Amino acid sequence: MTKLAVVGAALSLAAITRALVLPEAAVNQAPLGGPRGPDEVSDLHNVIFGSHHLDSDDEGRSAAEGFFNAVSSIRGHIHEDFSQAVADLVGLGYTGDHFGRPAGHGHHDDSSLTIYELISKSKYTTKFAKLVDDHPSVVELLNSTNGNSNYTLFVPLDKAFEDIPDDHKKPSKKVVEDALRYHIGLGEYPARRILHTYTLPTAHDEDLLGGEPQRLRTSVSLGGVKVNFYSKVVAADIVAKNGVIHAVNHILVPPPYIGRIITLFPDRFSTLLLAYEKTDFVKFIHGVNLKGSTVFVPTNGAFNWLGPKANAFLFNTNKGRKYLKAILKYNIVPNATLYTDAFYDKRDSEDGESEIEKRSHEHFDLPTLLGDAHISVDIARVFGFASIKVNGFSRVVVPNGVGKNGVIQVVNRVPLPPHKGHRHHHSEEWGEIEVNDLIKRLEPYI
Ligand SMILES: *[C@@H]1O[C@H](CO)[C@@H](O)[C@H](O)[C@H]1NC(C)=O
Ligand SMILES: *[C@@H]1O[C@H](CO)[C@@H](O)[C@H](O)[C@H]1NC(C)=O
Ligand SMILES: *[C@@H]1O[C@H](CO)[C@@H](O)[C@H](O)[C@H]1NC(C)=O
Repeated sequence: MTKLAVVGAALSLAAITRALVLPEAAVNQAPLGGPRGPDEVSDLHNVIFGSHHLDSDDEGRSAAEGFFNAVSSIRGHIHEDFSQAVADLVGLGYTGDHFGRPAGHGHHDDSSLTIYELISKSKYTTKFAKLVDDHPSVVELLNSTNGNSNYTLFVPLDKAFEDIPDDHKKPSKKVVEDALRYHIGLGEYPARRILHTYTLPTAHDEDLLGGEPQRLRTSVSLGGVKVNFYSKVVAADIVAKNGVIHAVNHILVPPPYIGRIITLFPDRFSTLLLAYEKTDFVKFIHGVNLKGSTVFVPTNGAFNWLGPKANAFLFNTNKGRKYLKAILKYNIVPNATLYTDAFYDKRDSEDGESEIEKRSHEHFDLPTLLGDAHISVDIARVFGFASIKVNGFSRVVVPNGVGKNGVIQVVNRVPLPPHKGHRHHHSEEWGEIEVNDLIKRLEPYI
């Protein structure tokens, strides 16, 4: 657990401890197998956080069927009654007061008050409100009614602050302000909109994303709505004059570096971590100046798919290690951060942020850290439910792992550059790759 010490201030340490360390212990107990079918690793927090999570009502929920079934049934059928469904699913335990009524009754809200005024009045949010009061610019944001900006506040209930150990060191004002801003979504995201949302921008701008808003990740399952995997929405759609409030049960903390996140889950990514070690990759990547990045992170199963011969070549021969390093470079898109619903493009030629249009199909052809090799990404949408494919065949099984310096897209096959001159990737779709084939594809970049 000492590796977390570097995470720094106690506020973030406490929440990350709860969010990441506890599930890591759970992950270590999860069965690890050989090659896996694409559907076997579908539940988001299962892959990253293990099947036993912070919330007891998630326990026992089957790994594989969880997420996609839940999402398709909720997204497909409940739809309009979503808020009520969430209220029923999470079984709200609070009564009375603004935040005490079950979710889904937005029309009873006192929308003549601002978000700031509502959280200042609620007896369930005194701790968050007190922190906000120490930061005038955050007060101003949450109390503003200038009409052209609405916000979505994910307010942690007082109980969430029990995450913070009593003996914590006081974090700096800047750390607290960043964390406070990270609870504020830009724009109005009522529960119904969250249903079709994968990530949303916050009031916390991140230098390492080229100054763009850091994003919160939302997911919907039968267990309810989760923000960044670990914080659950326990009351939704409290309507204010300048936006909407959802109450959550854990503090939200701006995410750590991508590299650190990967090291927290050795049972899922130990082969990748070994690859980084064998190629001295950390040293290489520290020398690269990046403004955001999209990192395709292959699971252990993805490496297994390459077969024993290819793995022996890549990991156990001096020649192979150069090819391994090329693969690792190929899996990183520099200066462009691609989420399911936004694209931060900081490449020299471009500079912009765009919401990805909710068209049925989006195609991106992105440069990588490997010479002129490009990686292609397709985002397909069916009934508002998006899936991401890499190079036409490899599925992103855990989308949008938000990181301080970019985004993690977990894939179930190792993305490899196509043969020069070919645009299509068929051979590796199922089964092993010949060492010769591997060499041929990567040779031009070595
Ligand atoms: C918040 O805004 C209201 C008007 O909407 C105003 O009356 C009140 O004084 C403001 N509170 C603070 C703390 O700025
Ligand atoms: C903000 O929300 C209020 C209340 O829902 C709405 O009347 C107003 O049009 C919204 N403003 C913007 C800019 O979305
Ligand atoms: C990424 O952007 C930074 C800052 O603009 C630039 O210095 C760097 O060369 C870019 N990196 C790549 C690999 O394009």
